[in-house]
Amino acid sequence: MHRPVGVFDSGLGGISVLREIHRLLPHEHLSYVADSAYAPYGDKSSEFIQERSLAVSRFLQAQGAKAIVVACNTATAHAVELLRAELSIPIVAIEPAVKPAVRLTKTGVIAVLATQRTTQSLRLKRLIETHAAQVQVLVQACPGLVEYVEQGDFGSAALRALLQGYIQPLLVQGADILVLGCTHYPFLTQTLLELSEHRVHVLEPSNAVAQQLQRILQQNQQAAPSSQSGQVQFYSSKRSQQHHLSMELLWQQPIALKPLPTP
Ligand code: DGL
Repeated sequence: MHRPVGVFDSGLGGISVLREIHRLLPHEHLSYVADSAYAPYGDKSSEFIQERSLAVSRFLQAQGAKAIVVACNTATAHAVELLRAELSIPIVAIEPAVKPAVRLTKTGVIAVLATQRTTQSLRLKRLIETHAAQVQVLVQACPGLVEYVEQGDFGSAALRALLQGYIQPLLVQGADILVLGCTHYPFLTQTLLELSEHRVHVLEPSNAVAQQLQRILQQNQQAAPSSQSGQVQFYSSKRSQQHHLSMELLWQQPIALKPLPTP
């Protein structure tokens, strides 16, 4: 069998990236790992995020992955250098869509929504310094949102109240672009647009990540043959019926979920 591409996230959020990869590269076999037993990563230490990212990536490499997509901004911010140093296959990382936001803004104010750990990271600081010096960038940590998405909740009253509390101050300060710096948040796009009365653009980078993966596979002459129909395998560190159902809700198809083996 042609080797798969590994894709992982702390949980289910990375499915927003996975679906874009599957859409752009329908011939590729994909193996997705949700590390949901350890989610959220966004309020854990750097060491913890590195340890989990490495364990999951090693699992994917052992499965024969020809490349790994880190479908998690928090893991990218804290562990991507380590993964590149430790693994012998290409690692495709994700970054918040700050550059397109700078091009799009009319008010000159953009907002980045992300997990606590991402908002505190040097990587985000550098991205903003390098590419967004000419606009005002409001960085908003959004603890709690990941947990709602993990439960398959994209629009309950409690979630809307939490989201409203995060975005209202950003809108008041003139932000016209919301940059989603966490792969769980694209599932909240509709709710974000409603709460902001469609006064903002919402940007997320999953298409750019899929295109970067495509470039790397082509450069390495590792793209799957077009005769192949890509199969998607799912693994999770969490075992619960509710979790399985949430995963199917996000993927919008039945999933034969396999447990992520514990070492
Ligand atoms: N989906 C992840 C991200 O893009 C991580 C969320 C979390 O586990 O806190 O940052």
